Amino acid sequence: MTDERQLLQLLADGYFHSGQDLASKLEISRSAVWKRLQHLQESLGFELYAVSGKGYKLAKPIQLLDRDTLKVTLQESINTTCLPEIDIYLTTDSTNKQALEYARQSPQTPRLVLAERQTAGRGRRGREWLSPFGGNLYLSLYWWFDAMPPSIGSLSLVIATILAKQLEAIGVPRCELKWPNDVRYQGKKLAGILLEMQGEAGGGCGVVIGMGINLDMQGHATETIDQPWIDVKNITGKATDRNELAAHMVANLIIILNKISEEDFSILLEEWQYRDVLCGQQVTLELPNETLKGIARGIDAQGAFLLEQNGQIQCFYSGEVSVRLAE
Ligand code: BTN
Repeated sequence: MTDERQLLQLLADGYFHSGQDLASKLEISRSAVWKRLQHLQESLGFELYAVSGKGYKLAKPIQLLDRDTLKVTLQESINTTCLPEIDIYLTTDSTNKQALEYARQSPQTPRLVLAERQTAGRGRRGREWLSPFGGNLYLSLYWWFDAMPPSIGSLSLVIATILAKQLEAIGVPRCELKWPNDVRYQGKKLAGILLEMQGEAGGGCGVVIGMGINLDMQGHATETIDQPWIDVKNITGKATDRNELAAHMVANLIIILNKISEEDFSILLEEWQYRDVLCGQQVTLELPNETLKGIARGIDAQGAFLLEQNGQIQCFYSGEVSVRLAE
């Protein structure tokens, strides 16, 4: 553990800690403690109180992501041969970008990258994913397939379905799924998924599964988010154990990734249908070169979106397609 992470861990309880106490625990000087705290504040953007005679205190307690806790929970749920390498950053540009960089060095090794904050979180269609420090979950799982699974097209739907079920397990009453992979609650975005592929010469393919889950935005400046959003704390009124959620989510994901080579989306079709927010609605479907209007008729066993126009139903697979509710 780095000095800075250790320091943050000591302050995570939200109580006052004297400079002397922190310095002796880290075996550094009191001025080194102050310098590190200043650096942490600048790079992570949290609020810190420094009160003479009392010491330092975070404005709000935090739960840091913890590698050992994640590892233990993952080991309990999945075969250890599938266990990914785990990296946790206090701050990074994008966990997807980091995971892709690792993948370039070691394409066949599964890897899990998490961050407390992202400075350039990537969203779908070139959007930014606002990623303030400490309250939400930003994670990317890199996974290698020896052969491209035929059902790879439905992967993002698979992930969205698992994510929705996981969020319901922590108290969100009923998530809504909007094709291809938006997880919402009462029309507001709760989580987003971004898949990035990496092909290898000689067959096989690697995929980075990036997930951003709004757990607790903690009053951060959110005015740049260009769509209605909500966080889990707002829905359930409770704080979420981020380590537990991340570990269960990743474990369930790995279990399904091991199955996906043999199965198509039909194993999760009913789960999707139960949460499908578009089915039966008048929608507008935006394709790269045209815009279609029609009625959403759900999805098929391959995860394709079904659009009815003049009594005819057509399927759409492309990841670039976006769907908007008609006015
Ligand atoms: C969307 O626009 O709906 C997808 C958002 C995906 C955001 C996550 S956060 C973790 C991972 N790293 C990134 O840079 N993006 C994804």
